[in-house]
Amino acid sequence: MADSNDTATSGSASGATSGSRKYGNASDMPRELFGLLTQTIITQWNCEYWGGMNYLQCIQLAPTLAERKTVARIGMEELGHAFILESGPLKVLGVNPWIQRALSVQYQANILKIFQFPDRFTTWAHFLMYNHLQDRSAAIQLAEFRGGPFEPWNDAIRKIEAEEGGHIQHGENGIRELARTPEGRADLHFALRDWLPLALDAFGVPDEQSRSLALYRRYGLKKSNNEARRRFKEEIRPLLDEIGLRHPLLENPA
Ligand SMILES: [Fe+2]
Ligand SMILES: [Fe+2]
Repeated sequence: MADSNDTATSGSASGATSGSRKYGNASDMPRELFGLLTQTIITQWNCEYWGGMNYLQCIQLAPTLAERKTVARIGMEELGHAFILESGPLKVLGVNPWIQRALSVQYQANILKIFQFPDRFTTWAHFLMYNHLQDRSAAIQLAEFRGGPFEPWNDAIRKIEAEEGGHIQHGENGIRELARTPEGRADLHFALRDWLPLALDAFGVPDEQSRSLALYRRYGLKKSNNEARRRFKEEIRPLLDEIGLRHPLLENPA
């Protein structure tokens, strides 16, 4: 999960720590790493929690009973991801996310912007496009974090990743199906327009403007916001091309 406001503690000279060192607990961890992990995992926890709550509100958008059950399952899986973080890495760090929880989706500090617009889930296409964009964005960012130094978080991410893969697949299958009708394609067009800028924003500011990227790099948690965003565009484009959807923000590969 990108740092929501890119204001993580900037790197101090004291943190000349190798990105390859691994930690199983917080006891001998540099303070700046503890702060970075706490802020980033709390942000992920909020996104999993609000993602689940937003998805559960989408049950009514599903076109069939079977799909309603699938939406409910996906929503519960997102809430389960929040629980995996809370009972694993956050517990090891001694952090209770319910105390630091964003109390509403309008509260900006610890939740990515894309989770703050539950009112945009107006059609079934919006649910499917969110699967295609935001679940994939999460998967790309989590895969990078999984190479980091904090083993309890890496273990949690491994558990979460398989289900995120299922959410992405659900979006792809549903989008192909919906795009068969002109009405479905029109809804998908509006869903892409509503979600894509926020999905791209979730990767953080450009590398050259980032105040936190140096610290993430020091601990092997991130390489480049620009590169992750470029990969994301590369991954979402084939399906959008297949169904004939375009967006100005996808014209530029960067
Ligand atoms: Fe999730
Ligand atoms: Fe997901």
